[in-house]
Amino acid sequence: MTAVTDNQTRGIATANPETIARAATLLQNGELVAFPTETVYGLGADATNSHAVAGIFKTKQRPDFNPLIVHVGRKEDIAKLVEINDVALRLIEKFWPGPLTLILPRLDGCPVSELCSAGLPTLAIRMPAHKTAQTLLKKAGRPIAAPSANRSGQLSPTTPKHVADSLGADAPFILADGPCTLGLESTVIDLSADTPVILRPGGVTPDDISHTLGQTIDIATPHGSDDTAPRSPGLTLRHYAPRLPLRLNAVDLKPGEALLAFGSDKFMGIQGGGSAKDLPEDSIRNLSPDQDLHEAAANLFRMLHDLDAQDGTDVKHNAIAVMAIPETGLGLAINDRLRRAATAQLNDN
Ligand code: TXA
Ligand code: MG
Repeated sequence: MTAVTDNQTRGIATANPETIARAATLLQNGELVAFPTETVYGLGADATNSHAVAGIFKTKQRPDFNPLIVHVGRKEDIAKLVEINDVALRLIEKFWPGPLTLILPRLDGCPVSELCSAGLPTLAIRMPAHKTAQTLLKKAGRPIAAPSANRSGQLSPTTPKHVADSLGADAPFILADGPCTLGLESTVIDLSADTPVILRPGGVTPDDISHTLGQTIDIATPHGSDDTAPRSPGLTLRHYAPRLPLRLNAVDLKPGEALLAFGSDKFMGIQGGGSAKDLPEDSIRNLSPDQDLHEAAANLFRMLHDLDAQDGTDVKHNAIAVMAIPETGLGLAINDRLRRAATAQLNDN
């Protein structure tokens, strides 16, 4: 194991009080850190920092913005994040800390980046049982978003070496603490609707849950292999769709459209006369004036929400036009989410 100096943001370091403190500082500074949990190694980032969270998708080379699990060091830490119900309380009492992830409605004013929810009104939360993870989370003092620390399409890592091999030159600081005891991802259960549904079987079995709740629990199918993301997303995972119609790859604006820009919007004209600079402030957002895909990813869901018609707000536009975003790197994930958002609207109609 390499020694870690004060300003080092990469390398593998054996977990001890000093390296854990170092990892916590990195997280607070918006850097990524790979850390051990009892299930698999996670690729962590400050969940309240959209830019840091966007770095997770970039490093994983994830082709879409699957929502992420947010990790906490203490049970009470979730009180400011999600709406807790009776079923959640019983499961937390029985299985936390441990390999059970709960999906619950986000609270108003929840400080977690919308990128973690992939634009959904819910948030996945978990308190890991691993001592090093707990110390790190408490020291970081904020919720930490963490998918498994592997490149998308590869197996979840259960040793520090897996992480280093899978992420290669993009590997962040890796806090090493031997192999994961469980080696299988957490069970994900959706408690945001009337009936609890298991979205991903994992460390806690459906029988354990059924027994605790005194009722049979449905398991949603089918599941894909990587991250066990649903293969037919519409079946199990709702997708964020703005209320207003979304028009992609716009090269100009139709009257009444708001603009979600990428890069310079100087030459965006409005059909019939005028240009983007004439739009009211509430009708224009720019994902990244500098065409930085990382910045665009961090801004995506927040800006879509800004431009969408919210209850009780008086917006001056009736549709959203989105400028083209390159189909490279994080642009693939951004376009995937935009297309899904646009298609979900078609399916709803
Ligand atoms: O054991 C684990 O859960 C590991 C360790 C690091 O904690 N994490 C992990 O994260 O496996 P990830 O991102 O690889 O898998 C998260 C799963 C995905 O299938 C995702 O679609 C689902 O949880 N998920 C997260 N938030 C969700 C939400 N709001 N609604 C529905 N599904 C959600
Ligand atoms: Mg995964």
